[in-house]
Amino acid sequence: MGAELLDGKRVAAEIREEVAEEVRQFVQSGGPKPCLTAVLVGEDPASQVYVRNKSRACDKAGIEGRTLRLPASTQQRQLVDTVAGLNADPKVHGILVQLPLPSDGNGGSGFDERAILDTVDPMKDVDAFSPVNVGLLMQGRPRFLPCTPHGIVQLLHRQNISVAGKHVVVVGRSDIVGKPMAMMLAQRDGTCGREVANATVTIAHSRTADLGEICRSADCLIAAVGVPQMIRGDMIRPGAVVIDVGINRVDDKLVGDVAFDEAKEVAGAITPVPGGVGPLTIAMLLHNTLLAARLQNPTD
Ligand code: GUN
Repeated sequence: MGAELLDGKRVAAEIREEVAEEVRQFVQSGGPKPCLTAVLVGEDPASQVYVRNKSRACDKAGIEGRTLRLPASTQQRQLVDTVAGLNADPKVHGILVQLPLPSDGNGGSGFDERAILDTVDPMKDVDAFSPVNVGLLMQGRPRFLPCTPHGIVQLLHRQNISVAGKHVVVVGRSDIVGKPMAMMLAQRDGTCGREVANATVTIAHSRTADLGEICRSADCLIAAVGVPQMIRGDMIRPGAVVIDVGINRVDDKLVGDVAFDEAKEVAGAITPVPGGVGPLTIAMLLHNTLLAARLQNPTD
Protein backbone atom coordinates (compact mmCIF):
# COMPACT_ATOMS: atom_id res chain seq x y z
CA MET A 1 0.00 0.00 0.00
CA GLY A 2 1.50 3.31 -1.09
CA ALA A 3 -1.06 5.82 0.07
CA GLU A 4 -1.20 7.55 3.44
CA LEU A 5 -4.49 6.78 5.19
CA LEU A 6 -6.46 9.90 6.09
CA ASP A 7 -7.98 9.06 9.44
CA GLY A 8 -11.32 10.84 9.51
CA LYS A 9 -12.29 9.11 12.71
CA ARG A 10 -9.36 10.62 14.58
CA VAL A 11 -9.90 14.10 13.17
CA ALA A 12 -13.63 13.88 13.96
CA ALA A 13 -12.84 12.93 17.57
CA GLU A 14 -10.54 15.96 17.82
CA ILE A 15 -13.26 18.28 16.48
CA ARG A 16 -15.89 16.77 18.79
CA GLU A 17 -13.60 17.44 21.76
CA GLU A 18 -13.15 21.04 20.65
CA VAL A 19 -16.91 21.51 20.26
CA ALA A 20 -17.52 19.96 23.69
CA GLU A 21 -15.08 22.44 25.24
CA GLU A 22 -16.72 25.37 23.41
CA VAL A 23 -20.15 24.17 24.59
CA ARG A 24 -18.87 24.14 28.19
CA GLN A 25 -17.63 27.71 27.84
CA PHE A 26 -20.85 28.85 26.14
CA VAL A 27 -23.00 27.42 28.92
CA GLN A 28 -20.66 28.78 31.59
CA SER A 29 -20.99 32.25 30.15
CA GLY A 30 -24.77 32.07 30.51
CA GLY A 31 -25.81 30.47 27.22
CA PRO A 32 -28.50 27.78 27.15
CA LYS A 33 -27.61 24.13 26.58
CA PRO A 34 -27.58 23.81 22.78
CA CYS A 35 -30.37 21.56 21.49
CA LEU A 36 -30.57 19.68 18.21
CA THR A 37 -33.88 18.09 17.26
CA ALA A 38 -33.86 15.45 14.56
CA VAL A 39 -37.13 14.60 12.86
CA LEU A 40 -37.26 10.97 11.80
CA VAL A 41 -40.19 9.86 9.66
CA GLY A 42 -40.80 6.14 9.15
CA GLU A 43 -38.71 3.10 9.93
CA ASP A 44 -35.80 3.17 7.48
CA PRO A 45 -33.10 1.14 9.31
CA ALA A 46 -30.13 3.16 8.02
CA SER A 47 -31.82 6.44 9.03
CA GLN A 48 -32.53 5.04 12.48
CA VAL A 49 -28.84 4.23 12.91
CA TYR A 50 -27.77 7.69 11.69
CA VAL A 51 -30.17 9.46 14.03
CA ARG A 52 -29.12 7.33 16.99
CA ASN A 53 -25.45 8.10 16.27
CA LYS A 54 -26.20 11.82 16.04
CA SER A 55 -28.06 11.75 19.33
CA ARG A 56 -25.19 9.93 21.10
CA ALA A 57 -22.64 12.34 19.69
CA CYS A 58 -24.74 15.25 20.98
CA ASP A 59 -24.82 13.77 24.48
CA LYS A 60 -21.06 13.40 24.56
CA ALA A 61 -20.57 17.02 23.47
CA GLY A 62 -22.94 18.44 26.10
CA ILE A 63 -25.62 19.11 23.49
CA GLU A 64 -29.20 18.01 24.01
CA GLY A 65 -30.06 15.64 21.17
CA ARG A 66 -33.77 15.09 20.76
CA THR A 67 -35.43 12.82 18.23
CA LEU A 68 -39.00 13.33 17.10
CA ARG A 69 -40.29 10.09 15.60
CA LEU A 70 -43.25 10.17 13.23
CA PRO A 71 -44.92 7.26 11.46
CA ALA A 72 -44.41 6.71 7.73
CA SER A 73 -48.12 7.42 7.31
CA THR A 74 -47.59 11.07 8.36
CA GLN A 75 -49.08 13.56 5.91
CA GLN A 76 -47.18 16.45 4.32
CA ARG A 77 -49.26 19.00 6.22
CA GLN A 78 -48.53 17.34 9.58
CA LEU A 79 -44.81 17.29 8.89
CA VAL A 80 -44.80 20.95 7.85
CA ASP A 81 -46.68 21.80 11.07
CA THR A 82 -44.20 19.78 13.12
CA VAL A 83 -41.24 21.66 11.64
CA ALA A 84 -43.06 24.99 12.11
CA GLY A 85 -43.56 24.07 15.78
CA LEU A 86 -39.81 23.46 16.17
CA ASN A 87 -39.09 26.78 14.43
CA ALA A 88 -41.20 28.51 17.07
CA ASP A 89 -39.67 26.68 20.05
CA PRO A 90 -36.89 28.84 21.55
CA LYS A 91 -35.38 25.82 23.32
CA VAL A 92 -34.64 24.13 19.98
CA HIS A 93 -31.59 25.66 18.27
CA GLY A 94 -30.99 23.23 15.44
CA ILE A 95 -33.49 21.27 13.33
CA LEU A 96 -32.59 18.33 11.12
CA VAL A 97 -35.12 16.49 8.99
CA GLN A 98 -33.55 13.11 8.34
CA LEU A 99 -33.43 12.21 4.64
CA PRO A 100 -34.62 10.37 2.70
CA LEU A 101 -38.24 10.88 3.65
CA PRO A 102 -40.39 7.81 3.00
CA SER A 103 -41.79 7.66 -0.50
CA ASP A 104 -45.21 6.31 -1.48
CA GLY A 105 -46.23 2.84 -0.41
CA ASN A 106 -46.31 3.34 3.35
CA GLY A 107 -49.84 4.58 3.52
CA GLY A 108 -48.43 8.10 3.41
CA SER A 109 -48.90 10.61 0.64
CA GLY A 110 -45.29 10.76 -0.55
CA PHE A 111 -43.54 13.90 0.62
CA ASP A 112 -42.57 17.02 -1.20
CA GLU A 113 -39.08 16.98 0.33
CA ARG A 114 -38.10 20.40 -0.94
CA ALA A 115 -41.18 22.00 0.62
CA ILE A 116 -40.40 20.39 3.97
CA LEU A 117 -36.77 21.51 3.94
CA ASP A 118 -37.82 25.02 2.90
CA THR A 119 -39.96 25.18 6.05
CA VAL A 120 -36.93 24.91 8.36
CA ASP A 121 -36.02 28.31 9.82
CA PRO A 122 -32.71 29.29 8.13
CA MET A 123 -31.32 30.26 11.57
CA LYS A 124 -31.91 26.69 12.78
CA ASP A 125 -30.88 25.00 9.53
CA VAL A 126 -27.86 23.02 10.78
CA ASP A 127 -27.79 20.95 7.57
CA ALA A 128 -27.42 24.17 5.54
CA PHE A 129 -30.02 22.93 3.07
CA SER A 130 -32.21 26.03 3.03
CA PRO A 131 -32.00 28.29 -0.03
CA VAL A 132 -30.94 31.17 2.23
CA ASN A 133 -27.93 29.29 3.56
CA VAL A 134 -27.04 27.89 0.13
CA GLY A 135 -27.25 31.43 -1.26
CA LEU A 136 -25.04 32.86 1.49
CA LEU A 137 -22.42 30.22 0.73
CA MET A 138 -22.59 30.97 -2.99
CA GLN A 139 -22.00 34.62 -2.23
CA GLY A 140 -18.96 33.85 -0.09
CA ARG A 141 -20.51 34.84 3.24
CA PRO A 142 -21.67 31.53 4.69
CA ARG A 143 -23.65 31.19 7.91
CA PHE A 144 -23.87 27.41 8.28
CA LEU A 145 -21.62 25.26 6.12
CA PRO A 146 -23.04 21.92 4.97
CA CYS A 147 -21.69 19.20 7.25
CA THR A 148 -20.07 16.69 4.87
CA PRO A 149 -18.17 19.17 2.68
CA HIS A 150 -17.18 21.15 5.76
CA GLY A 151 -15.87 17.95 7.33
CA ILE A 152 -13.75 17.36 4.23
CA VAL A 153 -12.35 20.90 4.42
CA GLN A 154 -11.44 20.28 8.05
CA LEU A 155 -9.81 16.95 7.22
CA LEU A 156 -7.66 18.50 4.48
CA HIS A 157 -6.76 21.45 6.68
CA ARG A 158 -5.82 19.36 9.69
CA GLN A 159 -3.71 17.01 7.55
CA ASN A 160 -1.89 20.05 6.10
CA ILE A 161 -3.14 19.32 2.59
CA SER A 162 -3.42 22.50 0.56
CA VAL A 163 -5.52 22.66 -2.59
CA ALA A 164 -4.59 26.26 -3.44
CA GLY A 165 -3.92 26.54 -7.15
CA LYS A 166 -4.46 22.79 -7.53
CA HIS A 167 -6.98 20.97 -9.69
CA VAL A 168 -9.75 19.39 -7.64
CA VAL A 169 -12.22 17.14 -9.43
CA VAL A 170 -15.50 16.58 -7.60
CA VAL A 171 -17.39 13.62 -9.01
CA GLY A 172 -21.04 14.14 -8.09
CA ARG A 173 -23.33 17.16 -8.23
CA SER A 174 -25.72 16.62 -5.33
CA ASP A 175 -27.06 19.53 -3.30
CA ILE A 176 -25.74 17.89 -0.13
CA VAL A 177 -22.14 17.24 -1.15
CA GLY A 178 -21.00 17.80 -4.76
CA LYS A 179 -22.26 21.32 -5.41
CA PRO A 180 -21.34 22.92 -2.06
CA MET A 181 -18.00 21.07 -1.98
CA ALA A 182 -16.99 22.56 -5.32
CA MET A 183 -18.11 26.00 -4.22
CA MET A 184 -16.22 25.88 -0.92
CA LEU A 185 -12.92 24.78 -2.42
CA ALA A 186 -13.08 27.43 -5.14
CA GLN A 187 -13.68 30.27 -2.65
CA ARG A 188 -11.15 32.85 -1.65
CA ASP A 189 -8.95 32.15 1.36
CA GLY A 190 -10.73 32.33 4.68
CA THR A 191 -14.28 32.46 3.27
CA CYS A 192 -15.13 29.08 4.69
CA GLY A 193 -13.25 29.61 7.91
CA ARG A 194 -10.07 27.77 7.08
CA GLU A 195 -7.22 27.91 4.63
CA VAL A 196 -8.52 25.21 2.31
CA ALA A 197 -9.48 27.31 -0.68
CA ASN A 198 -8.35 28.78 -3.98
CA ALA A 199 -8.64 25.49 -5.85
CA THR A 200 -9.43 25.16 -9.53
CA VAL A 201 -12.50 22.96 -9.44
CA THR A 202 -14.15 20.71 -11.99
CA ILE A 203 -17.55 19.17 -11.28
CA ALA A 204 -17.95 15.83 -13.04
CA HIS A 205 -20.92 13.48 -12.86
CA SER A 206 -22.55 10.38 -14.27
CA ARG A 207 -22.94 11.96 -17.72
CA THR A 208 -19.40 13.31 -18.00
CA ALA A 209 -17.61 12.16 -21.15
CA ASP A 210 -14.05 10.87 -20.64
CA LEU A 211 -14.52 10.71 -16.88
CA GLY A 212 -11.32 8.69 -16.47
CA GLU A 213 -9.24 11.31 -18.24
CA ILE A 214 -10.71 14.15 -16.20
CA CYS A 215 -10.20 12.27 -12.94
CA ARG A 216 -6.59 11.52 -13.90
CA SER A 217 -5.95 15.25 -14.21
CA ALA A 218 -6.94 15.78 -10.55
CA ASP A 219 -4.43 16.62 -7.83
CA CYS A 220 -7.32 15.96 -5.46
CA LEU A 221 -10.23 13.72 -6.39
CA ILE A 222 -13.45 13.82 -4.37
CA ALA A 223 -15.86 10.97 -5.13
CA ALA A 224 -19.48 11.62 -4.16
CA VAL A 225 -21.53 9.80 -6.78
CA GLY A 226 -23.19 7.07 -4.75
CA VAL A 227 -22.05 4.32 -7.11
CA PRO A 228 -20.03 1.58 -5.39
CA GLN A 229 -16.37 1.49 -6.47
CA MET A 230 -16.97 3.56 -9.58
CA ILE A 231 -13.56 5.25 -9.34
CA ARG A 232 -10.97 2.68 -10.34
CA GLY A 233 -7.22 2.74 -9.77
CA ASP A 234 -6.48 3.69 -13.37
CA MET A 235 -8.60 6.85 -12.99
CA ILE A 236 -6.25 8.27 -10.35
CA ARG A 237 -3.13 10.31 -10.92
CA PRO A 238 -0.14 8.85 -9.04
CA GLY A 239 0.24 10.71 -5.76
CA ALA A 240 -3.20 12.33 -5.83
CA VAL A 241 -5.27 12.92 -2.70
CA VAL A 242 -8.45 10.82 -2.88
CA ILE A 243 -11.48 11.61 -0.72
CA ASP A 244 -14.22 8.98 -0.80
CA VAL A 245 -17.63 10.25 0.32
CA GLY A 246 -19.51 7.10 -0.72
CA ILE A 247 -21.15 4.82 1.82
CA ASN A 248 -22.69 1.93 -0.10
CA ARG A 249 -23.88 -1.33 1.35
CA VAL A 250 -22.80 -4.22 -0.88
CA ASP A 251 -23.29 -7.82 0.31
CA ASP A 252 -23.58 -6.55 3.89
CA LYS A 253 -20.27 -4.71 3.63
CA LEU A 254 -19.75 -0.94 3.46
CA VAL A 255 -17.85 0.17 0.38
CA GLY A 256 -17.08 3.61 -0.96
CA ASP A 257 -17.37 5.15 -4.41
CA VAL A 258 -13.66 4.37 -4.88
CA ALA A 259 -12.21 0.90 -5.48
CA PHE A 260 -10.02 1.20 -2.40
CA ASP A 261 -7.65 -1.74 -2.99
CA GLU A 262 -6.71 -0.42 -6.44
CA ALA A 263 -6.68 3.24 -5.45
CA LYS A 264 -4.40 2.84 -2.44
CA GLU A 265 -1.61 1.59 -4.70
CA VAL A 266 -1.73 4.77 -6.80
CA ALA A 267 -2.90 7.61 -4.56
CA GLY A 268 -0.65 9.67 -2.29
CA ALA A 269 -3.31 9.82 0.42
CA ILE A 270 -6.79 8.33 0.69
CA THR A 271 -9.76 8.17 3.08
CA PRO A 272 -10.98 4.69 4.06
CA VAL A 273 -14.64 3.63 4.13
CA PRO A 274 -15.77 3.37 6.86
CA GLY A 275 -13.72 5.66 9.11
CA GLY A 276 -12.99 8.40 6.59
CA VAL A 277 -15.49 11.11 5.75
CA GLY A 278 -18.49 9.63 7.61
CA PRO A 279 -17.48 10.53 11.18
CA LEU A 280 -16.66 14.09 10.13
CA THR A 281 -20.25 14.79 9.07
CA ILE A 282 -21.54 14.28 12.61
CA ALA A 283 -18.69 16.32 14.10
CA MET A 284 -19.60 19.28 11.89
CA LEU A 285 -23.27 18.87 12.77
CA LEU A 286 -22.33 19.40 16.42
CA HIS A 287 -20.31 22.44 15.39
CA ASN A 288 -23.33 23.86 13.54
CA THR A 289 -25.65 23.20 16.47
CA LEU A 290 -23.42 25.20 18.79
CA LEU A 291 -23.22 27.95 16.16
CA ALA A 292 -27.03 27.98 15.91
CA ALA A 293 -27.36 28.26 19.70
CA ARG A 294 -24.84 31.14 19.67
CA LEU A 295 -26.59 33.01 16.87
CA GLN A 296 -29.89 32.72 18.71
CA ASN A 297 -28.41 33.59 22.13
CA PRO A 298 -25.50 36.01 21.87
CA THR A 299 -23.84 36.01 25.30
CA ASP A 300 -21.99 39.28 24.93
N1 GUN B 1 -29.34 11.65 5.20
C1 GUN B 1 -28.09 11.31 4.80
N2 GUN B 1 -27.22 12.32 5.07
C2 GUN B 1 -27.94 13.31 5.63
C3 GUN B 1 -27.59 14.59 6.14
O1 GUN B 1 -26.45 15.04 6.11
N3 GUN B 1 -28.63 15.30 6.65
C4 GUN B 1 -29.89 14.85 6.69
N4 GUN B 1 -30.84 15.64 7.20
N5 GUN B 1 -30.24 13.66 6.24
C5 GUN B 1 -29.27 12.88 5.71
